Amino acid sequence: MLNGRRVLLAVTGGVAAYKSAFLARRLVEAGVDLEVILTDSATEFIGTQTFAAITGRQPHRSLFEDESVSPHTELARWSDAVVVAPATAATIARIANGVSSDLLTATLLATEAPVLLAPAMHTEMWEHVATRRNIETLVEDGYRLVGPETGELAGGDIGVGRVSEPEQIIEALEALFDQSGGGRRLVVTAGGTREPIDPVRFLGNRSSGKMGHAIADEAARRGFHTTLVTTSDLPALPSVKVVRVETAAEMQSAVLEEEADVAVFAAAVADFRPAEVFGEKVARADGMSSITLQSTPDILASVVGRQNRPFVVGFAAETGGVERAIEKARAKKVDLLVYNNVSEPGSSFGSDTNEVVIIDSGGQTDPWPLMSKREVARKLVDLILTTIDPQG
Ligand code: PMT
Repeated sequence: MLNGRRVLLAVTGGVAAYKSAFLARRLVEAGVDLEVILTDSATEFIGTQTFAAITGRQPHRSLFEDESVSPHTELARWSDAVVVAPATAATIARIANGVSSDLLTATLLATEAPVLLAPAMHTEMWEHVATRRNIETLVEDGYRLVGPETGELAGGDIGVGRVSEPEQIIEALEALFDQSGGGRRLVVTAGGTREPIDPVRFLGNRSSGKMGHAIADEAARRGFHTTLVTTSDLPALPSVKVVRVETAAEMQSAVLEEEADVAVFAAAVADFRPAEVFGEKVARADGMSSITLQSTPDILASVVGRQNRPFVVGFAAETGGVERAIEKARAKKVDLLVYNNVSEPGSSFGSDTNEVVIIDSGGQTDPWPLMSKREVARKLVDLILTTIDPQG
């Protein structure tokens, strides 16, 4: 997967810089066409000649000393991917803020290639609120992370902050090039629908859209043409087509408009809506002792019932055991159902993590451990791909 790929390895100034020499060696052995940037502080930890010997090329050092008049744009356009390893707290802060004060940061601003960061720093620095904020920004901006790991750090301390091993970085780099979605069309629903009572009030639920947005981003990264039909304001990757909706009826029309090979229903759709929607805000003085409800359309059922139906993945938000979800998988005729118990703190609406059980069309269950919604999305896209195309 890496053979012939043009990879730019950027080494910044931390003790872990020595490990990047091993990483460079492994990349060259894998057939990667490798260029290296060394920042000034990286050279306090490792020499340029080490990388020159490994890659057969002089590392790039500065915006001004290079033979090229515009080394940052040339490297930016040349790269199929960029790996920053180790990525120090200072470098992470500069990238998150769009600073372009040296060759590395200018190149990152100029490139459209995917960027993988392998952070390395002391635990206190990794856990500092400023670093957390910068990492969140970078993840939202589409940067990929590998690590940091927990283990021995510089000075003999033990904790989280150790740079990932070369093998782990290479695995993450291979995932950047994984386009196994192969241009298939995937539609995903996300968020909780809002069913109006009057112009200011609605019936709704607590879904944030995090689960569905994570699936859309992951599918897009893996080469699916992805449409996200969502009630949430959360961001999505630029390559995701986003259709913002509010009600179940709007969500249904948006979904039915899409031709899809795969449909994933992560939205919490209201099952009922007020039968009457008031045109004006209902005044307290006028009173409202009851609201008559009527059923909303079952969006998933309308897609399952289509001729040439796509591969359908449903979700089941339950507050009890998995049994009801197994019955739901059968009744709804889905290809996969993802059960989550939303009364558990780690799997609740709005949380960043989820603990799910996968139920297949035959009712077989596969419990996954608690992990981030991002990781659930990654594994789910893997599972969809291996189920629809077992030969890979
Ligand atoms: O958004 P987050 O805060 O990250 O939370 C994620 C989540 C808990 C909302 C998500 O993981 C989840 O479980 N989504 C499905 C919630 C739900 O509505 O489950 P359900 O059991 O009521 O519905 C079963 C399936 O039918 C779901 O795939 C649902 O999208 C779909 N459905 C339901 C009703 C309806 N009218 N139309 C539908 O398409």
